[in-house]
Amino acid sequence: GLEQSLRPETLKQYIGQDKVKENLQIFIQAAKMRNEPLDHVLLSGPPGLGKTTLAAIIANEMGVDFRTTSGPAIERAGDLAAILSSLEAGDVLFIDEVHRLPRVVEEVLYPAMEDYFLDIVIGTGPSARSVRIDLPPFTLVGATTRSGLLTAPLRDRFGVLSRLEYYEQKDLTSIIERTAEIFETSIKKEAAAEIALRARGTPRIANRLFRRIRDISQVKGEKTISLDITKQALAMLQVDDAGLDHIDHKLLTTIIERFNGGPVGLDTLAATIGEEAQTIEDVYEPYLMQQGFIQRTPRGRMATAQAYVHFGMEGPEKR
Ligand code: ADE
Repeated sequence: GLEQSLRPETLKQYIGQDKVKENLQIFIQAAKMRNEPLDHVLLSGPPGLGKTTLAAIIANEMGVDFRTTSGPAIERAGDLAAILSSLEAGDVLFIDEVHRLPRVVEEVLYPAMEDYFLDIVIGTGPSARSVRIDLPPFTLVGATTRSGLLTAPLRDRFGVLSRLEYYEQKDLTSIIERTAEIFETSIKKEAAAEIALRARGTPRIANRLFRRIRDISQVKGEKTISLDITKQALAMLQVDDAGLDHIDHKLLTTIIERFNGGPVGLDTLAATIGEEAQTIEDVYEPYLMQQGFIQRTPRGRMATAQAYVHFGMEGPEKR
């Protein structure tokens, strides 16, 4: 469907992340020349940057099947054994949130990654025995928000470590223009650039904003998405000129107004604004830190001087 075709299918179609793409292109080409599976790949970076898309592209470029699962979905060693033994030679297995694999599963994964076999214990007590299952050679592509969340032995077993960065405005602009084309919608270059500026460097957010702005533009009877409509729509969507949404606002103004600019602990902050600590840490904070609105200190999160300026507020009382 449309949703599917929005995802690029080749490295050539994949916009941005040039360094990651350039490296992968070479490793894929070398593996194909040697007729070997690609080495295991760890993709790290904030949500919405295209880790799953890139994993599917790797499989497509290698000319193999693409299978997906996630760390928390694999509860027991047997679950992993079932998946791995159903693969064909060279296939790509994508494990999203690979840092959330249960420890017992992770240990079974080590020999599978290194030497393509599983040691599975069958039965319990005196009748327990270990059986060795040979596996087809495969490529594990793991995804995680931060590579530092992985245990060292798991991280060490990935031969290719690729870190995705927030996208530059020009690349996000191209992604939005591509999306508009797929949706057969006409958009002014300045409008696409405006969305790109406010999408927090994240294609998933850019594409979501695009769809809502397209709705608003269409209902207003416009033929082309203009800069003017885009600005009006972004205001309706409560996205400010730095691309911060109402949750970012709540987060920052809570630190400033309730905690005198911080420091405040993550759990306290989460409880105060009614969001999951994990969501704040994985989704909201990375961008606010990258943009210089929040600082992480050993005593907790602090709003920066730039955050005060953004809200037109006076700096904190002495803290
Ligand atoms: N859609 C989402 N991410 C993309 C990317 N990096 N390139 C092209 N289209 C995309």
